[in-house]
Amino acid sequence: MPSIQESIQQQLNINQSKNLLFEYIQQSMSVAPSFLAALETLLISDTGHPPEEAYAGFVSFTANEMVKRIYAINPYLRVGPADTAALEQIYRQTWQLIQQTRDIKTTLNAFHYPALSKWLAGLYPEEFQKSLRGSPGVGRVTYEEYSAEFQIELFGLDLASLQEPILDVGCGSRANLVRHLRAAGLEAYGIDRCVDTSCPYILQVDWFDYRFEKDRWGTLISNMGFTNHLNYAYRHDFSQLERHLLKMKEMMEALAPGGCFTYAPGLPAVEEAFPAQQYIIQREQKNQDLSVSRIIRVE
Ligand SMILES: C[S@@+](CC[C@H](N)C(=O)[O-])C[C@H]1O[C@@H](n2cnc3c(N)ncnc32)[C@H](O)[C@@H]1O
Repeated sequence: MPSIQESIQQQLNINQSKNLLFEYIQQSMSVAPSFLAALETLLISDTGHPPEEAYAGFVSFTANEMVKRIYAINPYLRVGPADTAALEQIYRQTWQLIQQTRDIKTTLNAFHYPALSKWLAGLYPEEFQKSLRGSPGVGRVTYEEYSAEFQIELFGLDLASLQEPILDVGCGSRANLVRHLRAAGLEAYGIDRCVDTSCPYILQVDWFDYRFEKDRWGTLISNMGFTNHLNYAYRHDFSQLERHLLKMKEMMEALAPGGCFTYAPGLPAVEEAFPAQQYIIQREQKNQDLSVSRIIRVE
């Protein structure tokens, strides 16, 4: 019999490609038999008033898993701490309702899925919500992690001359490049909102919550990370553009004299506005869709 965590994963898997913003959401969602069985077992062993701790772990586990899956579908969304707390509350209330009514399917259809839908809608601008109401399924965005070798080749990094310390912004859950640079003896760090491991040089943090200290970094690197999101805001979501530009400015100011910020995709339209007396900008067109940029702070 699968553990409760496994059955939660199976339940999330079964609905992974469903659109929570679809207007007939109750008709499109499914319940995995293993998950139903796990809930039924929990109900049977339930005394009516289980202590909060009995399910608190599952509540935060499920909310975390859900957030990961939402980012896999739309990496440009931002689920802040208050949003996560609200999501946890939905899972808590769902379980409490199941305890009261002892009717799992009705609780899921009448309360849980509509509540999730409303919660997710709150993360989208109004016009996106409208366009998503009509489709039962969601597409998948290509949003992968890349090997260290691939990134070194893409950026043409010469490890012998990389200025330290190095920070990989949006380093990926496995932090491939950071680990590779460390293994080569370089002082490298990574930040990402989703990380698999905790170690002193990899920090789980949202880049908007991370303070890039002035004059601190010899090298900043971001492959399909921060500038991918800035680019998205520039093209599709103007409401997010200003905060991305301010963060970009903070990162540029975080370069030590002579330091370099290397990133992909490049930002041709945005880079024109960078002060030419302070920064040298080099751009390389890799293919029709992708350019790589290097911003060097003049000493
Ligand atoms: C396409 S992956 C690339 C990862 C890595 N740079 C590589 O090349 O393998 C983009 C990464 O950016 C991270 N990311 C997205 N938004 C973020 C945010 N607001 N704060 C921190 N990391 C973020 C994601 O978690 C993901 O790991």
